Amino acid sequence: MVSKLPNIGTTIFTVMSNLAKEHNAINLSQGFPDYPISPVLVDLVTKAMQDGYNQYAPMIGVPELRIALAEKMNKLYQSSIHPDTEITITPGGTYAIYAAFTTILQAGDEVIVLEPAYDSYIPTIETNGAKAICIPLRYPDYSVDWELVKASITAKTKAIIINTPHNPTGYVWTHDDMLKLDEVTKDTSMYIISDEVYEHITLDGRTHESVLKYPSLFARSIVIYSFGKVFHTTGWKMGYCVAPAELMNEFRKIHQFLSFTCNTPMQVALAQFLTDENEYLLLPSFFEQKRNLLLELLRDLPFTIHQKAQGSYFQLASYEKINDMPDKEFAIWLTKEYGVATIPVSAFNHNGKDDKLIRFCFAKKDETLELACQRLSKLQQR
Ligand SMILES: Cc1ncc(COP(=O)(O)O)c(C=O)c1O
Repeated sequence: MVSKLPNIGTTIFTVMSNLAKEHNAINLSQGFPDYPISPVLVDLVTKAMQDGYNQYAPMIGVPELRIALAEKMNKLYQSSIHPDTEITITPGGTYAIYAAFTTILQAGDEVIVLEPAYDSYIPTIETNGAKAICIPLRYPDYSVDWELVKASITAKTKAIIINTPHNPTGYVWTHDDMLKLDEVTKDTSMYIISDEVYEHITLDGRTHESVLKYPSLFARSIVIYSFGKVFHTTGWKMGYCVAPAELMNEFRKIHQFLSFTCNTPMQVALAQFLTDENEYLLLPSFFEQKRNLLLELLRDLPFTIHQKAQGSYFQLASYEKINDMPDKEFAIWLTKEYGVATIPVSAFNHNGKDDKLIRFCFAKKDETLELACQRLSKLQQR
């Protein structure tokens, strides 16, 4: 058969997680927590099932959940999102990204992707017959080169996908970045796909710059969120998508033939759980403690930190003082020889650009981070 994705193999996340299992390594690679979720949330899901919420939910999502989300967003981002026309509940963020691109793209379109980038973006663009135009973020702080973005816009540019807080670099977009985004896109017909799955994980007093805060940007945007990242429930694959009514109407045409709807009892439980805003407002202090612990543990090891993570739950580290292996080889070697799995950052670049960096996930129990760094303490500086 003719492959739709001839150059794509198994994702690096699966490769590294399998390798971690095989070698009994501590898995700091894939982005998922190893601590329990809130027992309150578990009870709410159990109760929803016992109360009979076990059949198809409405196609766009359970009304109580959409209302709770609209209230939350409108309060946090001073937006005026309508729960009936502008929100759709989806089976996760990755699904919403796929449905969003499928909604807007035609064969031959171009989409600007800032790299390193989450690995679903380019295959999703290509499956839709469009072309990714990849622009490198500035090493080592991974800020956006706006001149380069501007120079890459052509008559074929249908969209730009942005991601803040950023996976894998931990960069958090500033107010100035949002103004630049508005400036370079406002006289075009481009859409903005804004991947904001780490919206609540901004560190050191930073605030999240959602496109929802900027009416002129939101008018052209599809915004992606994930409950997995907010409530530590990545295995539930629950998320949602927000867009102006007209765009959302088109998004729903795609969604109704992809999954039609998603998990009912979890939607009922999440609607109730969202009433406790501390569950998401306290995430910055929770993750700041974990990032600080990881940085403190890494300080005694031969890694170099070019920049502290500003957001998300990932910290990059350079291994230039250890050896000069390509980063994929280094990550495999670290897993096999030292029992700690990480992600090589070149996996987030379409051309394999290798800055000799690995990504640590710090959404882990303190003892997991401590044990991992204890194992890594045997590493020698060359
Ligand atoms: C930047 C980014 N976007 C989207 C997702 C996907 O979220 P979900 O697990 O809800 O599909 C992830 C997951 O790691 C991510 O890092």
